[in-house]
Amino acid sequence: MNKDHEDPLRPHTYDGIQEYDKRLPNWWLTTLWGAVVFALIYWIYYHELDLAKAPDVAVMDEIAAAKSEAAKKSGVLNDETLWKLSQDPATVAAGKAIFMDPTKCVVCHLPTLLGMIGPNLVDKEWIHGGTPMEVMNVVTEGVPAKGMVPWKTQLTQEQIKQVTAFIMSHHKQGEEIIKVSGWTMPGAAPVQPAPAPAPAAPQ
Ligand code: HEC
Repeated sequence: MNKDHEDPLRPHTYDGIQEYDKRLPNWWLTTLWGAVVFALIYWIYYHELDLAKAPDVAVMDEIAAAKSEAAKKSGVLNDETLWKLSQDPATVAAGKAIFMDPTKCVVCHLPTLLGMIGPNLVDKEWIHGGTPMEVMNVVTEGVPAKGMVPWKTQLTQEQIKQVTAFIMSHHKQGEEIIKVSGWTMPGAAPVQPAPAPAPAAPQ
């Protein structure tokens, strides 16, 4: 023990050099153990008990929300924004009003959307694709040869967006899409060879 020094000497010697066993200062130990305790609480709170969204997740969510909000405002149209609109009650209500207008969609697709002259819009089967953009495209351009009106001649872009959101509100993002080549009107006779002529009814 060195008399001039309050700290004990460590027992080893390397290359003739000895060192004091210096106790770490309290301020330093406080930050060390404080950080350890903080990390434990943080880990348990966010990652073990999931009591709140971890800050990184919360930030990513906020960025995504801000992006979709901005896209909505600037009118950017893509599957993502149309899915968002399909969950927006005001847009869906506006779209429903257009759909149910007797001069618009309802006459052919029925109020239930189950289809009549036009195909079912609530099942998983789609002739022209079931993503929001594909649905909006067929509403816009129509299928004149098959009797589906190109609605861009009668509806504004905004109205087409709303009616598409209304249709998509009956669907879920990521659900199965089955491509079909056509649609049989309910109650229509299936295409069959001509039946034998029925015997004349007795008078
Ligand atoms: C005069 C009847 C008629 C009216 C009115 C009508 N549709 Fe259609 N619609 C059809 C027919 C017929 C088809 C099928 C086209 C085909 O066979 O390719 C169709 C197809 C569609 C499709 C594509 C379905 C698929 O499986 O790909 C959508 C979406 C659609 N209509 C939405 C609308 C909306 C929205 C309106 C109103 C703004 C509307 N339709 C009005 C007759 C109509």
